[in-house]
Amino acid sequence: MGVIVKEIKAADTWDLRHRVMWPEKSIDYVKLEEDKNGLHFGLFKDELLVSVVSLFITGNEAQFRKFATDTKVQGNGYGTKLLQHLFLVAKQNKVETIWCNARVDKASFYKKSGMVETEQKFSKGGIDYVTMQKILN
Ligand SMILES: CC(C)(COP(=O)(O)OP(=O)(O)OC[C@H]1O[C@@H](n2cnc3c(N)ncnc32)[C@H](O)[C@@H]1OP(=O)(O)O)[C@@H](O)C(=O)NCCC(=O)NCCS
Repeated sequence: MGVIVKEIKAADTWDLRHRVMWPEKSIDYVKLEEDKNGLHFGLFKDELLVSVVSLFITGNEAQFRKFATDTKVQGNGYGTKLLQHLFLVAKQNKVETIWCNARVDKASFYKKSGMVETEQKFSKGGIDYVTMQKILN
């Protein structure tokens, strides 16, 4: 019982990604070619997978993508807990800068965990994004 975070397979992220982020698209839309090069993490609440995120490490930088908490349980701190886990794993892998392309309406969520907005902004598929980063030490 309780809440645990563990590494999962890429394929185990696809259902939550699809349901939470892009329900109107096909399941194939949420599968990334890069998935095979990533580390994937899931947060389980009472053995049920409720939040997923994927981390892509390139040298001393890491990007995380496709962060999704089941809509039914958003706002309970699960995303924050998973994000803290990513920072830890990144540090263990000697990553200095962790970053993401955040949906602009989610920027405040990342700020609470110490991420800062960069100058880089763009739009894709009708959604506005801002690149955010955190220097790990
Ligand atoms: C972004 C996302 C992954 C966050 O996951 P989450 O599990 O809801 O995250 P948390 O519960 O830790 O934080 C969500 C909010 O609840 C608040 N919160 C955290 N713990 C809380 C608690 N114990 N009690 C009440 N509120 C709490 C946080 O302050 C945060 O507020 P904010 O959004 O105003 O910053 C989730 O909203 C999501 O999947 N969104 C849809 C997909 C998406 O946009 N993905 C990210 C693209 S950048």
